[in-house]
Amino acid sequence: MSNPSDMAVVSFPPDFIWGVATSAFQIEGGRNEAGKGDSIWDRFSDQGRLRVPGDVACDHFHRWEEDLDLLERLGVPTYRFSVSWPRVIPDGDGRVNQAGLDFYRRLVAGLRDRGIAPVATLYHWDLPQALQDKGGWASRDTIDAFARYSRIVAGALGEETGQWITQNEPWVTAMLGHRDGIFAPGIADWRTALRVGHHLLVGHGLAAQEIRTVLSGASVGIALDCRPVEAVSESDQDRQAARHFDGFRNRWFFDPVFGLGYPDDMMKSYQDRGRIEPDLIAADDMRAIATPIDFLGVNYYTTVSVGVGGEEVDRPEAEPGPEPQPGYTEMGWRVDPDGLARYLRYLSGTYRPLSILVTENGAGYSDGPDETGVIDDRRRIDYLESHVRSMAAARLDGVPVGGYFVWSLMDNVEWLEGFSQRFGLVWVDETTLERIPKRSFDWYRRLVTTGTLSSP
Ligand code: FCB
Repeated sequence: MSNPSDMAVVSFPPDFIWGVATSAFQIEGGRNEAGKGDSIWDRFSDQGRLRVPGDVACDHFHRWEEDLDLLERLGVPTYRFSVSWPRVIPDGDGRVNQAGLDFYRRLVAGLRDRGIAPVATLYHWDLPQALQDKGGWASRDTIDAFARYSRIVAGALGEETGQWITQNEPWVTAMLGHRDGIFAPGIADWRTALRVGHHLLVGHGLAAQEIRTVLSGASVGIALDCRPVEAVSESDQDRQAARHFDGFRNRWFFDPVFGLGYPDDMMKSYQDRGRIEPDLIAADDMRAIATPIDFLGVNYYTTVSVGVGGEEVDRPEAEPGPEPQPGYTEMGWRVDPDGLARYLRYLSGTYRPLSILVTENGAGYSDGPDETGVIDDRRRIDYLESHVRSMAAARLDGVPVGGYFVWSLMDNVEWLEGFSQRFGLVWVDETTLERIPKRSFDWYRRLVTTGTLSSP
């Protein structure tokens, strides 16, 4: 196996897909504009659950051209953004809001004008509130509404948008949104969480089919989050706990997407504890979930160590804060670049995806402008560079990783944490909304324009 830190120079082929990622709620703002309906995150924001209200965010809705110019300066060949469902269909399943669709059409055209290929994510957590009022993802009607919405967006954005991501991180929506209730819509109930997780996956499969019906040349995938896990000790109990955590956190989502069904050990555990409804899975569901994908998107940030008693939690190992412990980001996430290569090898060997894209990777550090206005975010550069090297090592071992997206283009509303957790290559002043590229922006520009990393 190749060791990334041994390699002085790392090169990527010219067709390697470099990009950056954002999501609608986190950057757009323009909450009540041009006919947009509310999402469950707008509601959550109104309830004071976010450190800052999400109404303005980065004001990308008005400043999108300036942001596309930044992308052009960055030199990335692709840009991953998400479409806000309630901007396109304000109540989720009714009238189409042409002004909302036009916003994304202009965005896609603006990207193309700058030579940047769009990668559109259809669902990055901002469900129309009107659908939540009718049961949200716990209702099967939302699956149908999502399939319809997917068809409408694919039709509007057309072949100009070659790559599509159906769902972003269904684990988060299911578990943080419906088991723990800490993310929108704020429900805390195991059965609902597993129901929602299942419906999200069925929705993924149906959306993939819809996109392909409308756009024969589309490349379609899903972005799954992962928490690679190791046992805290070699003891049988700790290893079992780690295996269980892996089932809960990773395998429950990856296995069915690749046609393996839900993992037996987890199904039994959930059934034994009454966490899953006996009639949850309808006749064609598993086939829909296993609709073949063109690429697997993997969002990788960190790894966890789990032992006995840890099977139900996914807590950060350190509390978030501006003074992270050494080896952790300010999110409290352990920095583990080698974990990326390990997991990519595992995914490739286990599921044999045609292609893998690292659809998110990045680090929360709050470094801001010094007296001369320079933002020297060395820690972010170190984080990103070590992860790119790790990915390169996995590629050398034959893992078909075809692309990498930094989370994120710019600092944005990091969900509950607002602007207090900053992941951007570009600093955003939350008051003036001024954008200032950080040192990491220049570092990434060199990487994506040369395809090469020199001495570590
Ligand atoms: C991921 C989300 C993304 C962002 C990063 C830090 O889980 O997909 O929106 O919040 O974490």
